[in-house]
Amino acid sequence: MPLDIVVGTQWGDEGKGRFVDLLAAGADYVARYNGGDNAGHTVNVGQQIFKLHLIPSGIIHPHTVALIGNGVAVNPKVLITEMETLVESGIEISPERLILSYAAHMITPAHLALDEAQEKARGNAKIGTTLRGIGPAYTSKVARHGLRLVDMLNEANFDHAVEVHVKEINHQLTSLYGAEPQDPGKVADELKGYAVRIVPHIGDISSTLYDALGAGRRVLAEGAQGTLLDLDHGTYPFVTSSTPTAPGALVGLGLGPGYEERVIGVTKSFQSRVGSGPFPTELSGDLANRLRGTGEQPWDEFGTTTGRPRRVGWLDLVLLRYAVRINGITELALTKLDILSGYERIKICIGYRQGDKEFSKLPFGPSDLSGFEPLYEEIPGWQEVIRDARKWEDLPAEARSYILRIEELIGIQIRLVSVGPEREQVVEIS
Ligand code: IMP
Repeated sequence: MPLDIVVGTQWGDEGKGRFVDLLAAGADYVARYNGGDNAGHTVNVGQQIFKLHLIPSGIIHPHTVALIGNGVAVNPKVLITEMETLVESGIEISPERLILSYAAHMITPAHLALDEAQEKARGNAKIGTTLRGIGPAYTSKVARHGLRLVDMLNEANFDHAVEVHVKEINHQLTSLYGAEPQDPGKVADELKGYAVRIVPHIGDISSTLYDALGAGRRVLAEGAQGTLLDLDHGTYPFVTSSTPTAPGALVGLGLGPGYEERVIGVTKSFQSRVGSGPFPTELSGDLANRLRGTGEQPWDEFGTTTGRPRRVGWLDLVLLRYAVRINGITELALTKLDILSGYERIKICIGYRQGDKEFSKLPFGPSDLSGFEPLYEEIPGWQEVIRDARKWEDLPAEARSYILRIEELIGIQIRLVSVGPEREQVVEIS
């Protein structure tokens, strides 16, 4: 069936945007199914660099229809800014090209205030959230006092719905965190201002996709964040509050099972993480600085959304095997192989040690990684710059060995490898 799902296998920031861009060339619909503007997807097209947070990066292809599913938390202000930036870059944004699920929840100014108050209160135990109101917005959804996009259509009840919502959050802001309450009237007026621009785009994504898939149209589901940030399956509690894993695509778009054809797991050639939480293969010192870069280059390891330096480390195959299982990954796409050029030797984490025991998989998933020491296999690196490689044969023998060794240890084929930031800097392996 014609549904392909792109998921991140690590802690987000795997470089999914560029493969979504590549795969969207063959898709009719591109759909975001989870998260909010905590995500950052960068796509380079010639001289243009597109940095997207909410709108699926596949929209850059003029033939696609972009969908935002019910699983996404939408900050209307950010959405409008993004729509305007895209229009300025020559991308058409019409109600036919960008459709928002009526059931997607809104991120409101009250959520932003609560995210900040909660992070402050956590002190040293802070999650390191992106402060985009993500956790509070999904909490409102689950607690059933959230606002959905469909509420914008019900003008008669909108003020009341906002008041109920803001009062709930104010209760927490003032009594739990000693923070300033939000003014429900002001929040309602602000949101009504955004509604003018947003309402024409509200539709029924589930129904659109059901018809499209039934008619054999190709759909690409675009996950934000990554497997290890999944609320259920990630490194809890240092996770996001949505479902970035592949099953989240079905729930977050209103689809039943059975449509999936490919589940493409995007993996960076090394590991990176922003925010707090365990990271077994984390590097420090010169090695880390070298992998991370200085921040001067667009591909250096600094957050697209927050600009924070990312923590970096060697590729962790224990966690990758886990991601393959949780997502039902059918093929892998490896990003940033070019960054590993110039190392004498490269390490891959093939297992963990705790005390005198060795593990090839975690006994209780990744939520408690503390106390596990990585077991490494070292393989020879390559010195060549590989940005001009376009075919398997163009890659140095050591780079090919690195890819083949990962495939061997994971049991899944790597079909795409990115060797630079430009659209064409990809090696497709048949
Ligand atoms: P939140 O999603 O803002 O609540 O943040 C929760 C955790 O997820 C923090 O560690 C964030 O740094 C991390 N996070 C959220 N979105 C992304 C992303 O798109 N890439 C990488 N990390 C993210």
